[in-house]
Amino acid sequence: MTKLTVLATGGTIAGIAGSAIAKDYRAGEIGIEDYLEKVGGLGLEAELSGRQIANIDSADMGPEVWNALHTAVCEALDDPECAGVVITHGTDTLEETAFLLDLTLPAEKPVVVVGAMRPADAVGYDGLRNFANAVRVASDPDAAGRGVLVVMGDRVFAARDVRKVRTRGTEAFRGFPRESIGLVTPASLEWFGAPWRQGGPASFDWCDKLPEVVIVYAYAGFDAAGVERQVGENTRGIVVAGVGEGNMPESARAALVAQAKRGLPVVRASRADEGLVDREPEDTENGFVAARALNPQKARILLQLLLAGGITDPAAIQKAFDGR
Ligand code: SIN
Repeated sequence: MTKLTVLATGGTIAGIAGSAIAKDYRAGEIGIEDYLEKVGGLGLEAELSGRQIANIDSADMGPEVWNALHTAVCEALDDPECAGVVITHGTDTLEETAFLLDLTLPAEKPVVVVGAMRPADAVGYDGLRNFANAVRVASDPDAAGRGVLVVMGDRVFAARDVRKVRTRGTEAFRGFPRESIGLVTPASLEWFGAPWRQGGPASFDWCDKLPEVVIVYAYAGFDAAGVERQVGENTRGIVVAGVGEGNMPESARAALVAQAKRGLPVVRASRADEGLVDREPEDTENGFVAARALNPQKARILLQLLLAGGITDPAAIQKAFDGR
């Protein structure tokens, strides 16, 4: 039987409402041992060993848990007995963890992140189906080399593409620029097309103290004061969640140009759900970078890793974004 390591971080997949029809619930309540007992009855074709990394609502996910999680994934991947890793995670920040791990882990063995939209004691709990599907993906030799994958519902997404697009309902995730890259059930798995990542070592060294990068959100009436309020003395970079194709009002633009001239990299992303943000002719003069297909929260992670590696030149940062 394939041996998989399950690393648990909490979220709704481990959440409890106390009633099958309750509106409110607490994320991160069930421990990994109890969870593995719960899935034990599913007859999954894998031997699972679990480790609790955290048991939190993923709104609280951040550098401390990321450090512990990254160490645990590396240990599991180094174990010749372990064929792959499944990470259980809250859905709210799942895409950030998946993308961070994708950039900082080698791609030789499958690493699959999975969550659920309904707590474990709710009617229609999706966590068992999602978990069984994640085990199916992590057990598949063809999943290796594709980078970190996310399984939600019957779909497999690449970490680079996946995003949470709905606050409720079990079909809450989509992919951009590619939709799902595979369809899975506990008994079957179909891959669509070639992976965007094809094997290879980690793109970035792990950094346990990521530089501070702020996301500033543009809106009608957003101005220079709105930028300045958010940029502190420890800020090392700025991502703008711009309107439309990464645009912003003139007053805010002038303030951001001033920050770029001070040496703070400024990345233009979009607050729209989907769409590319391409370079504009003025970006070179302004010292701005275009986020391309990355949404603001993923652009922030890529910028943090670049800054941690000492890359601050806008042209070099742009090259890294163009390669994603
Ligand atoms: C969380 O992100 O931890 C809560 C929400 C969820 O898992 O769906």
